[in-house]
Amino acid sequence: MAEFSLPKNSTITKKGKAHAAPEGATRIRKFKIYRYDPDSGENPRYDTFEIDEDDCGPMVLDAIIKIKSEQDASLTFRRSCREGICGSCAMNIDGTNTLACTKAIEDIKGEVRITPLPHMDVVKDLVGDFTHFYAQYASIQPWLKTATPPPSGKERLQSPEDRAKLDGLYECILCACCSTSCPSYWWNSDKFLGPAILLQAYRWLADSRDEMTGERLDDLEDPFRLYRCHTIMNCANVCPKGLNPARAIAETKKLMVERAV
Ligand code: SF4
Ligand code: SF4
Ligand code: FES
Repeated sequence: MAEFSLPKNSTITKKGKAHAAPEGATRIRKFKIYRYDPDSGENPRYDTFEIDEDDCGPMVLDAIIKIKSEQDASLTFRRSCREGICGSCAMNIDGTNTLACTKAIEDIKGEVRITPLPHMDVVKDLVGDFTHFYAQYASIQPWLKTATPPPSGKERLQSPEDRAKLDGLYECILCACCSTSCPSYWWNSDKFLGPAILLQAYRWLADSRDEMTGERLDDLEDPFRLYRCHTIMNCANVCPKGLNPARAIAETKKLMVERAV
């Protein structure tokens, strides 16, 4: 799905640097990568890098690690697990937000264009600034909140059926692919929590052990925090873990209605 949108403050200049493939390369693929260093005072640019696919791992992350190791050590990006678990390598690849470590190069036709997640401030190159996103996460108090002591002073048990209600929610890795593909979040991220944080908020509403449902709903009942979702569905289409934040948002709205009647 094409949903390309540049990071904030982006005026791309044409002055990019080109890095040719090494001599003897057998299967050349071109990568066009967004470069921006706010400290330099220069506008962002695209640099191009040619790599030999026959001498590279299969994923986009393999390619950018290779580029950093062999062509330009200043290329900056986040990664950790390389298994689709930590969420840190989220970026926009070929027009879609996704994880570089699970995106196969062979699934992309032609030149591979890579930019940071859309509509975020950029720290450097492909690294977006998650400060606001994490502050929004903290605002939903993402931990078990109770009023009563645990039965018999031990852990709080959950039936298999209640535990199953967390499936499709607990797997979220907070990569922000969904939130940064949501037009409502692009324009109102100062007030709208966005799909990732709302999915996380519902994860606690859906937890049978949590005893603060009323307070959590009070906190979300606001024209912006929850209700700026217009069911555009970009969030569900891009989630690299196959989750559906739009459904979690709809379930939260349902809880709001149920408690009002
Ligand atoms: S369904 Fe809601 S949260 Fe998801 S992309 Fe659309 S507006 Fe954003
Ligand atoms: S819902 Fe999916 S896309 Fe959104 S933050 Fe969680 S894992 Fe990432
Ligand atoms: S490196 Fe952890 S999700 Fe890609």
